Amino acid sequence: NSWLYDEEKGGVFLSEEQLNRTRVEARMAPKFTMTVTILLLGMAVLLALSNTGLGPVGAAAAETITAEQRLVAALKDPKVSQFVLTSDVVLTASLPPSKKDFTLVGRCRDRRQRPRLCVVDGKGKFRGFRSDGFYVGMSDIHFKNMRDTRTPGSDYSDGTGAVAFAFNGKIRATRCVFESNKAFTAGALAVRDSPLLVSDCQFRNNWAVEEAGAIRVFSNGVGTVRRSVFSGNSAGQSGGAARVFEGVLNFINCTFRGNTARKGDGGALDYESGSGGVISRSEFVGNSARNGSGGAVEVEGDSAIDDINFCSCTFRCNSAKTRGSFNVDITSDTQVTFCRNKPQGLRVVEPAKAVVNCTACAKAVYWDNKNSL
Ligand SMILES: *[C@@H]1O[C@H](CO)[C@@H](O)[C@H](O)[C@H]1NC(C)=O
Ligand SMILES: *[C@@H]1O[C@H](CO)[C@@H](O)[C@H](O)[C@H]1NC(C)=O
Ligand SMILES: *[C@@H]1O[C@H](CO)[C@@H](O)[C@H](O)[C@H]1NC(C)=O
Repeated sequence: NSWLYDEEKGGVFLSEEQLNRTRVEARMAPKFTMTVTILLLGMAVLLALSNTGLGPVGAAAAETITAEQRLVAALKDPKVSQFVLTSDVVLTASLPPSKKDFTLVGRCRDRRQRPRLCVVDGKGKFRGFRSDGFYVGMSDIHFKNMRDTRTPGSDYSDGTGAVAFAFNGKIRATRCVFESNKAFTAGALAVRDSPLLVSDCQFRNNWAVEEAGAIRVFSNGVGTVRRSVFSGNSAGQSGGAARVFEGVLNFINCTFRGNTARKGDGGALDYESGSGGVISRSEFVGNSARNGSGGAVEVEGDSAIDDINFCSCTFRCNSAKTRGSFNVDITSDTQVTFCRNKPQGLRVVEPAKAVVNCTACAKAVYWDNKNSL
């Protein structure tokens, strides 16, 4: 069976068909007894109602198991660590919290049998994975319209993240599209005390009411994003595409296009206190801090451990309200390193420093999290 292949090694792999079959089989036995009971009851009721004018009742409705039901069953089944999706899913509820390591693999095909991403649609109401202590993996999935409706006063302090949030867990996303997802903070993904690894993904038009339009890394989260594109994401406050607070977020070969911080700082990225990262071979185009500073990137750390390095990045057509900061804004007690050139539109507020030093760019990423995933 071509759907079953050992990507992660050591997992239990069930295709949707297989899972469907086991479920149907498991239900056969009790169903038979139930059908007989229902038939007998039905006959009794029919006899009782025979002169009331009501039609027959109790006809068994044909039961169809949706892709969503199969996915939820796999998430709940302690023995299943990987689920292969072969059709799109439209959610009618948020996914249950993870109680184990779990990987969702998309294997969808179009009408002409060409591979395509499987769509998981949150209908603007439902959120995806939530993991306290477990690994969440996803590949070849297009998550759209996922929504985390939690607001301050509920438990928003855990980071939200409409598609996935991990606390003391791990998140890995490969070849995924995150589109039009929305949360109070972190429109798509959030990690706290957890590593995050994103490769070959697209983040489009995700939205956060407050901070971090697409990705939020905080409280010892360590993230690395490779070969991914962030476009049209926005935050009500800071970090149109992503925001880091007391954590690390590296970007390698990424493109940030048209992301917006509506009221705060950092049209694309906002590095807050106690944060670090290497941003390498990445391009910032047309990002905006409409009513703040740092059209592309804001670095607002206030601690000696902050360590932000820009390696061979390019900046074009970014804008900010604060004069002279249309590309990068650096404030507070932080030093930021550029290789090879400092960009135009760089504002440095003392005692912050901006230096040119290419040594840091020799090591690929800062606090590499590859081995921990
Ligand atoms: C990044 O992109 C450059 C070209 O822009 C390419 O040479 C390099 O191999 C890429 N690196 C990775 C890690 O994808
Ligand atoms: C822009 O920011 C200033 C403070 O810097 C604030 O007074 C004003 O209300 C903001 N405008 C908008 C449209 O958010
Ligand atoms: C450049 O950065 C490295 C650390 O990455 C440091 O050891 C070195 O002293 C720096 N060079 C200069 C001239 O500041």
